[in-house]
Amino acid sequence: MDSNSTTTSIPSHMKAWAYSEYGNAVDVLKLDKNVSVPEVRDDQVLIKVVAAALNPVDAKRMLGFFKATDSPLPTVPGYDVAGVVVKVGSQVKHLKEGDEVYGDINEEALNNPKQFGSLAEYTAVEEKLLALKPKNLSFAEAASLALAIETANEGLKRAGLSTGKSILVLGGAGGVGTLVIQLAKHVFGASKIAATSSSGKLELLKSLGADLAIDYNKENFEDLPDKFDVVYDAVGQCDKAVKAVKEGGSVVAIIGAVTPPAFIFVVTSNGSVLEKLNPFLESGKVKAVIDPKGPFPFSQTIEAFSHLETGRAIGKVVIYPVP
Ligand SMILES: NC(=O)c1ccc[n+]([C@@H]2O[C@H](COP(=O)([O-])OP(=O)(O)OC[C@H]3O[C@@H](n4cnc5c(N)ncnc54)[C@H](OP(=O)(O)O)[C@@H]3O)[C@@H](O)[C@H]2O)c1
Repeated sequence: MDSNSTTTSIPSHMKAWAYSEYGNAVDVLKLDKNVSVPEVRDDQVLIKVVAAALNPVDAKRMLGFFKATDSPLPTVPGYDVAGVVVKVGSQVKHLKEGDEVYGDINEEALNNPKQFGSLAEYTAVEEKLLALKPKNLSFAEAASLALAIETANEGLKRAGLSTGKSILVLGGAGGVGTLVIQLAKHVFGASKIAATSSSGKLELLKSLGADLAIDYNKENFEDLPDKFDVVYDAVGQCDKAVKAVKEGGSVVAIIGAVTPPAFIFVVTSNGSVLEKLNPFLESGKVKAVIDPKGPFPFSQTIEAFSHLETGRAIGKVVIYPVP
């Protein structure tokens, strides 16, 4: 059997959500039943998609915000995937057909993201961007994790969070924030975690490990007497975030204008980061948080985008089952 052969029959065409012009999902995103199944390059595997998740970057890219560095239209959106390997390229070293995997399919989120993403029956992905799915997680849970958990991990690392330090998380209830709280506690050993949200989500923040849940409708976090070693801004409130950090501490932002000494970064997808975090998922210490309005079946992907775009999602907006 050569390395490109397969025991599963793979069709030449598939169902996928796609857009041919930039705009809102309700206007431009269409279900196409005749998209070519992507070819696999030598370093890639073909995944039969079981679940996918939406990220704000999907909506912003669809609006044309990254036109200058985007792949050509038409675009099948979707960064996050969980599914089964059905074909491997000739240079693939570890993964094999039948492996259950998850990951963020775009190494660089904003620079030439793939034209054929995860909102499809099949997607082709570099082996190095994937990890084996923890057996205790469903495909929907695994799909919810990659981009957000890698963003949480990279930000905490860059900010230098370490055992015994305190952290304030702005936007604790979102896709990234729910994981920042959990990684801060269980992976980085933070001694004190505070996080912000609206009133109805404070209990969620505490259940994820926040010692202090701050209702942003009632309190200004920047006026609290206690300052933090690290502030992780997942909202775009850098001007206020820098007022909540201790002298010599760090403020990391993932969105919005940057006020010194804060810094911003764009996540790099990396399967080995997921492999490193898998034990924390397998032990149940770190949990996937799926928005309770979902998972949305594949046919309701436009409704799922509309929900994401409210900016009120709790944890991750997941598409399952696919197709
Ligand atoms: N730089 C990067 O590499 C990178 C990576 C991932 C994401 N991002 C960006 O980071 C942002 C967050 O991403 P995400 O996936 O976590 O988004 P998300 O899941 O859509 O965030 C929704 C959550 O944000 C909360 N929120 C909104 N305004 C808030 C405020 N003023 N204070 C506290 N919480 C607030 C909402 O809670 P309430 O309803 O309680 O307000 C909601 O639960 C997006 O802009 C995304 O594009 C950047």
